[in-house]
Amino acid sequence: MAETAGKVIKCRAAVAWAEKEPFSIEEVEVAPPKAHEVRIKMVATGVCHSDISFLNGLLPSAAKFPTILGHEGAGIVESVGEGVENFKEGDHVIPLYMPQCFQCPGCRHPKSNQCLKLFPQQMQGLMQDGTTRFTCKGQSLHHSMGISTFSEYTVVNDVSLVKINEEAPLEKVCLIGCAIATGYGAALNTAKVEPGSRCAIWGLGGIGLAAVMGCRAAGASKIYGIDINPDKFETARKFGCTDVLNPKDFEGKKFADVLTQMTGGGFDYTFECIGNVNTMLDAVESTNRFYGVTVLVGIAGHEKKMDLSPLLIVSGRTLKGSFFGGWRSVESVPMLVDEYMSGKIMVDEFITHKLKLDDINQSLELMKDGKCVRCVIHY
Ligand code: APR
Ligand code: ZN
Repeated sequence: MAETAGKVIKCRAAVAWAEKEPFSIEEVEVAPPKAHEVRIKMVATGVCHSDISFLNGLLPSAAKFPTILGHEGAGIVESVGEGVENFKEGDHVIPLYMPQCFQCPGCRHPKSNQCLKLFPQQMQGLMQDGTTRFTCKGQSLHHSMGISTFSEYTVVNDVSLVKINEEAPLEKVCLIGCAIATGYGAALNTAKVEPGSRCAIWGLGGIGLAAVMGCRAAGASKIYGIDINPDKFETARKFGCTDVLNPKDFEGKKFADVLTQMTGGGFDYTFECIGNVNTMLDAVESTNRFYGVTVLVGIAGHEKKMDLSPLLIVSGRTLKGSFFGGWRSVESVPMLVDEYMSGKIMVDEFITHKLKLDDINQSLELMKDGKCVRCVIHY
């Protein structure tokens, strides 16, 4: 048993004290895991655009301040609470913001990948007993999405965690915990892109590039990558984009019309990986009006509305959403790690920066300025 088992661990974490404030690196206390909880020593975490969104209060339900954000991590089990059967000290794990309990109606429904047992509670920033395991300067800190990976140690529910291949480099496969699973699955599981399809992806960040990778794996014949930052185009081509477009080059024209014309009637599949209601509309309008499918992946602010004419849909289009790429987390994440290990999916190519926890605010700047795909924090 680890020397630290059963004791409070003092470690460093990036604390978000209040909305829109930069992270503050603090010493925090991490309580031992209670029943059906696991404490993890984090090895690495990616920084996702959703972390910026949560920090900015875009989804107040997902971040209750003060909190520890981060939801794209990998680490090693330090200790387990009572009743934990599937994990032991030393296991290599990826925390899952979408749990899989295998028992609730969400987990049992063949078409759903959403666990109803704990996901709603995890989104409240609390553990199952309604308390938190983090304190700093005498104050409780909320968890975030049930996994809070911006801390050297974190505590998660045992259904929100999965063991992975011990050979896999944790500082790489952490990205399978969010970006890669989300985009790749949006193409394969939600859209179910067929060979020969013509696809377009809005937003060539970590999520969008993973969607490109999914379209390529599905055998799409055309993959258009769309972004207002042309610096993203070179990487996008490496991931499989056959064409890259900057909407700014078509100012004065309706971009959806340009695309519909270019494709002789519209795309088979479009993916919005930004979280902007205007690009969501473009993604719908530029699909084929009789059978085009649009998948919304980006997260828009809670107060945002899409100005969507029902006529666009009634002609035959489909508008879908995808969360965590439609994957059932516990069953799929280890499989995705193995796909990386066997060379089937790319992971290394997403990583443009390695940073220390002290530099986490820099990762937010890099992302806002469009200078990175994924920054990975190494603990
Ligand atoms: N049109 C085209 N591209 C845009 C636009 C726009 N109006 N606005 C932003 N982009 C591009 C950016 O230039 C960037 O390359 O979208 C990309 C977004 O990438 P990241 O910031 O790296 O974000 P990512 O982590 O991939 O997340 C994308 O998915 O999970 C959600 O909350 C997340 O909504 C966010 C989305
Ligand atoms: Zn994410």
